[in-house]
Amino acid sequence: MILLYILSFIVILSNAQKSLAFCDEYIEFDLDYFGKFISNAKLSNTTDAILAEKRVLIVDEDLNLLSSLSIPKTQTHDCLWIFKQSSEVFFVGCQKNGEAPYLIAYKSINETHYSQFGNIVYFPNINETVIRVTGIQNTLFTIQSKKVTLFTLVWSASDWSIKTTQNVFDKNYFARTAEINITDIAYEPYSQDNLQYYKLIVVEFKLGAFWVDTLIKNNIITPFRNGLINMPNVFVSSLQYNSAVIHSTTQNASYITFTVFGMDYTDISIKAVYVTTSTTTITHNYNLNGPWASWGPPIKFANLQGILRRNILKQSIFNVFNILIPVAQNENTLSATTYDPVDTFTSPPQDYPIYYFNRGYRVVHSIENNKLQSCDLYNYKLQTE
Ligand SMILES: *[C@@H]1O[C@H](CO)[C@@H](O)[C@H](O)[C@H]1NC(C)=O
Ligand SMILES: *[C@@H]1O[C@H](CO)[C@@H](O)[C@H](O)[C@H]1NC(C)=O
Ligand SMILES: *[C@@H]1O[C@H](CO)[C@@H](O)[C@H](O)[C@H]1NC(C)=O
Ligand SMILES: *[C@@H]1O[C@H](CO)[C@@H](O)[C@H](O)[C@H]1NC(C)=O
Ligand SMILES: *[C@@H]1O[C@H](CO)[C@@H](O)[C@H](O)[C@H]1NC(C)=O
Repeated sequence: MILLYILSFIVILSNAQKSLAFCDEYIEFDLDYFGKFISNAKLSNTTDAILAEKRVLIVDEDLNLLSSLSIPKTQTHDCLWIFKQSSEVFFVGCQKNGEAPYLIAYKSINETHYSQFGNIVYFPNINETVIRVTGIQNTLFTIQSKKVTLFTLVWSASDWSIKTTQNVFDKNYFARTAEINITDIAYEPYSQDNLQYYKLIVVEFKLGAFWVDTLIKNNIITPFRNGLINMPNVFVSSLQYNSAVIHSTTQNASYITFTVFGMDYTDISIKAVYVTTSTTTITHNYNLNGPWASWGPPIKFANLQGILRRNILKQSIFNVFNILIPVAQNENTLSATTYDPVDTFTSPPQDYPIYYFNRGYRVVHSIENNKLQSCDLYNYKLQTE
């Protein structure tokens, strides 16, 4: 089995040589000082934050290190999450198994430097392990398998805090009798009649997903209606849904790609139309195929869709697909199509692969936990020339 994986990796590696030739030299960061890379967040068109075990790195598009920041308490706690809150602020989220998760805020000093703002702040009333923490403007989410809990950020001149809210997305909220098993959430803004909304997709392991429409007021989201995207109605019931990306959305329709397990190494893309809160129609658009099972949520950039795939040896392959996603409100005339990747980037074993798109159709990917490389989407560029 393992030998097969290695053999297939070599074949895939040699297939990928075409693209590898269009990569800059990789840049290696000091493993002792920074620790292994864990995840990343785009801070602006030209800067990205890379969360590593011991520090946060701020890099530019050419992967120059602009600055780096220490992270308190990393000896005892795991900091796994990073997300941008506004043009000025990003957060790092940490937890210790079975204890309350907390956030650290970093505020920009200038275009290249940030500093910690205020103290570590714990999520109130959540003293358990969470799957992930994230946020939209001044609303924060803790994601657990049985519920997503919403909190509000409160800012003062020199400090900040987290306030509880009434909003909890659990089985009662979604009017389900059986327990639910949430795996992740995805969200995307839309506007209508000059009001700002967010579509939330709450991914459920067996059912597919719940959708939640929320209105933004004073930078805080207020949920006002929800329904079910009932995937077992369309696909075999043995599929398992792990995460999602929303390509485009309006109030009544969304294009969504799901990371699934159970069908051989295929991710599926659907159009969901919210006919009423109790009926959602699903049109199957694409199968996105790759050599291994997907790992983590897909990422997108204009018409590009990136799916990271890993084998049991933690070798990773990043497949980039060139898919034309129509605007969600247009009538769907597409029939289900199987897509193959245009560009593929590979990496030897690493614990937490980092992958993101940059302007000019480039991809940054991590190699062996502490190296970063920037590459051209060579085949994509050839295709679109
Ligand atoms: C960032 O890039 C987007 C898309 O290219 C552009 O619309 C936006 O104006 C840019 N923002 C800044 C601050 O340059
Ligand atoms: C969480 O629970 C642990 C053990 O029960 C306790 O030691 C810790 O103080 C609690 N943390 C918070 C923030 O309530
Ligand atoms: C940004 O702030 C840092 C830290 O205060 C400082 O060292 C650096 O020179 C500043 N850069 C610019 C371009 O002002
Ligand atoms: C719930 O989902 C997780 C994946 O997030 C899965 O590993 C687990 O088996 C699921 N539990 C049940 C009872 O289906
Ligand atoms: C979306 O659907 C709701 C309920 O059917 C309807 O009231 C609303 O007008 C629709 N919105 C748009 C933009 O079509």
